[in-house]
Amino acid sequence: MNVTVDLDRQARAILRSNDRGGYTVPTAGLYPYQWNWDSAFAALGFAVFDIDRAWVELETLFSGQWANGMVPHILFHAVDEGYFPGPDVWGTHGHGPIASSGISQPPVAASFARRIYERDPVAGEARLRALFPMMKAWHGWFIKHRGESGAICVTHPWEAGRDNTPDWDQAMARIDASNVGEYQRRDTSHVDADMRPTKYDYDRYITLVNFGSSHDWNEDVILKDGPFRVADPTTTFILLRANRDLKALGDDLGLDTDEIAGWIERLEHGARSLWNPEINAFDSKDLRSNEFSNCVSNASFLNWYAGIDEPRLQPTLERVWQAAKYGIASYDPQGPHFEAFRYWRGPVWAIMNTMIGIGLAERGFSDMADKLRVQTAELIAEQGFAEYYHPQTGKPAGGGTFTWTAAVWLIWASPNAGKV
Ligand code: DGY
Repeated sequence: MNVTVDLDRQARAILRSNDRGGYTVPTAGLYPYQWNWDSAFAALGFAVFDIDRAWVELETLFSGQWANGMVPHILFHAVDEGYFPGPDVWGTHGHGPIASSGISQPPVAASFARRIYERDPVAGEARLRALFPMMKAWHGWFIKHRGESGAICVTHPWEAGRDNTPDWDQAMARIDASNVGEYQRRDTSHVDADMRPTKYDYDRYITLVNFGSSHDWNEDVILKDGPFRVADPTTTFILLRANRDLKALGDDLGLDTDEIAGWIERLEHGARSLWNPEINAFDSKDLRSNEFSNCVSNASFLNWYAGIDEPRLQPTLERVWQAAKYGIASYDPQGPHFEAFRYWRGPVWAIMNTMIGIGLAERGFSDMADKLRVQTAELIAEQGFAEYYHPQTGKPAGGGTFTWTAAVWLIWASPNAGKV
């Protein structure tokens, strides 16, 4: 069997083996539930070989939507003692139909629903029509409860998906975690502690969960008094892209999309407000202190994916890319906080390479997009379907047999992508 065909087969097998019946876990052990953006990537991967299963994945995700429109970042379908913090700590009872966390995650789902629909519009139309109002309600929730600065903010590092990026260091330093109490982490029993966030970070993650839970996840209180509120390029660019895709879908289905058009305009301005001239990059901004983080991360380069051109970013991209062999490091390899193995403080993530690559291709930078795709393909072919990788050596890190890495292999990195 040739190498590509074998990797295609392995990627499908990973999606099947992480399937828990209607939803897909990111990887067994470390992440035993349905995670929001991981699940949307899983749907995209399934669409390559099982379009019905792709729609089921999204339908299960939206079956956990809260009455206020929020789609949680974790759905706890079946309690697993191997993960902390579980449903009791989150204390979200009464908010949604399924036990869940109390925060969301970058909303990639509408963009991926568009791709899935376009693969087979006949199979997809009725399912898309049912999901459309749910996706719109979720996007509206972000605008209403996370959009006061124009850009979209996160109220917990987990909401951005980039848990321990140096972007959050200043905002995290202001959180008083002295009352966090005793708790037992589970992640470090699955994965080397050097590849995970520190105890200092975890004390603050849990403090923020306790804050939300003690105020029954009241968004007005979280807006006014929440200890962490940072405008985030990941969520801003991804929501902007998702609204463009949702609008295109709505127009195709003959639905009213005027409100979405307004959100797009608002987010275009919001995204521009994240340009930090000090570092020549899009950056996160602490809304409590109004200070930029001064961090170049892989989220700094999601602007093309969002349809935003920025010629001043080109030299920064070249510099950061030159310092890594396998794409765009999660944090600037020349920056003072770089740690090559520690989760979002340096490693390369195949999903981020993918979204950056899709954006570059769409905005006319096809040579760079091809180079990024080939580097990602080499990384996966040489090192397997890891959660993340050392950006210079490619050594795999975090969880193995990882759902979203398998999915992006099938839809983008594989030389067969799009042809199978
Ligand atoms: C974790 O548990 O590490 C997750 O990233 C939280 O969403």
